[in-house]
Amino acid sequence: MKLVKLLANLGYGSRKEVARMFREGRVTDAAGEVLYADDQVAHADVRVDGEPLDPAPGLVLMLHKPVGYTCSTRDPGRIVYDLLPPRFRLRKPLLSTVGRLDRDTSGLLLMTDDGALLHRIVSPKTKLPKTYEATLAEDLRGDEAALFASGTLMLESEDTPLAPARLEPLGPRRARLVLTEGRYHQVRRMFAATGNHVTALHRPQVGNLTLGDLPPGDWRLLDDHDLAALFNSN
Ligand code: URA
Repeated sequence: MKLVKLLANLGYGSRKEVARMFREGRVTDAAGEVLYADDQVAHADVRVDGEPLDPAPGLVLMLHKPVGYTCSTRDPGRIVYDLLPPRFRLRKPLLSTVGRLDRDTSGLLLMTDDGALLHRIVSPKTKLPKTYEATLAEDLRGDEAALFASGTLMLESEDTPLAPARLEPLGPRRARLVLTEGRYHQVRRMFAATGNHVTALHRPQVGNLTLGDLPPGDWRLLDDHDLAALFNSN
């Protein structure tokens, strides 16, 4: 691929803006030799203002989503893309969130531009376990674990029951819940079905991949080791 297209696809600017960067001599190889718009050079060997290029397509990252950010590209309020380098919003192929977390949910959010990988993660067939920690307005009743594990719980306005889910009480008003599907507002609606109300919700883990010590609002690229952990959960 010609460099002008490579850089435009990475969000460095429109073709016109990127062409100007070449004319200004800002795009070089690793040795500092000026490169030209129609050169075809390996991604790893290109520098812009002396800096390596943003990651090539096939990018997967995890973000520690804080409360208050929406998984959307156009919400008028804070959006998860605000927490990434501005160029990441302009990439082609598009960098998308893998499923969604509600605005009021914090935790591990995956993002990728790899459509096949995204599909594999969200597909109900993969049954990837997603671990949530919920804080509740009322004490647990005691029958939630059996109800959620039953595979018969039907949420309002749905016509198929939820797949069995594992609940572990962490205190009178706190519970860990492991789901293998991702329906709209699922955790909040499951507890609502028991007459309770979720006051805080956090997702520390997807598959066997955890946030580790990644602070809220920070992100990092995933490597093959992380992806193995993501899928090695059964
Ligand atoms: N379930 C919810 O209710 N909210 C989320 O953000 C994720 C799962």
